Amino acid sequence: MCQMTMNNDIERVLYSVEDIKEAAHRVGTQLATDYADKTPIILSVLKGAILWTVDVMKEMDSYAEVEFIDVSSYHGGVASAGEIMLRTDLNTDVNGRDIIIMEDIVDTGRTLKFMIDLLMERGAKSVKVASLLDKKEGRVVEANVDYIGFDVPKAFVVGYGLDYKELYRNLPYVGVLKPEIYTSEDTATLNSQD
Ligand code: XMP
Ligand code: MG
Repeated sequence: MCQMTMNNDIERVLYSVEDIKEAAHRVGTQLATDYADKTPIILSVLKGAILWTVDVMKEMDSYAEVEFIDVSSYHGGVASAGEIMLRTDLNTDVNGRDIIIMEDIVDTGRTLKFMIDLLMERGAKSVKVASLLDKKEGRVVEANVDYIGFDVPKAFVVGYGLDYKELYRNLPYVGVLKPEIYTSEDTATLNSQD
């Protein structure tokens, strides 16, 4: 009998459950130290950053609020159009507040720049970024990640929040999909998915 499982779609594991646990501990304890005398807003970017946000914030023994924002690349038929849409705004006034953006992955940097500009315009006191993955080779605009889980090579990755067509977010590790899972057509748009 052939059983269909998500694991079977993965070519190789890049970051294991154990690797991610260590990274969340490293980043979370560093944030707790750096923000010990502040009450930052942890701003989790939906949907990709949900697991990373949860695991990092559990490692922070310091006061913090949590908010969510949904921002995504607008495809409009063109893979690298680079337009960013604010799908769901956060519910809190950020004026004068210290913000920690929690991202799953920073690639071209466009999404991050959009959010940083938005928060600064609204009067945020400081904005720092903690991303599970940093794909530095993909950068098109300047966008700095202050706390990095892993520097990731330029491959399309899924799992631990990251999706391909909304699937694989619930894999507990980060991996690379088998090429046969996506068609060559899809490949052109892979880097602009949310
Ligand atoms: P930019 O290019 O604005 O994009 O830095 C960041 C967003 O693009 C998505 N992205 C990926 N999603 N696997 C994914 O599942 C990937 O390898 C990948 N690369 C970029 C992601 O949503 C990120 O927030
Ligand atoms: Mg994302």
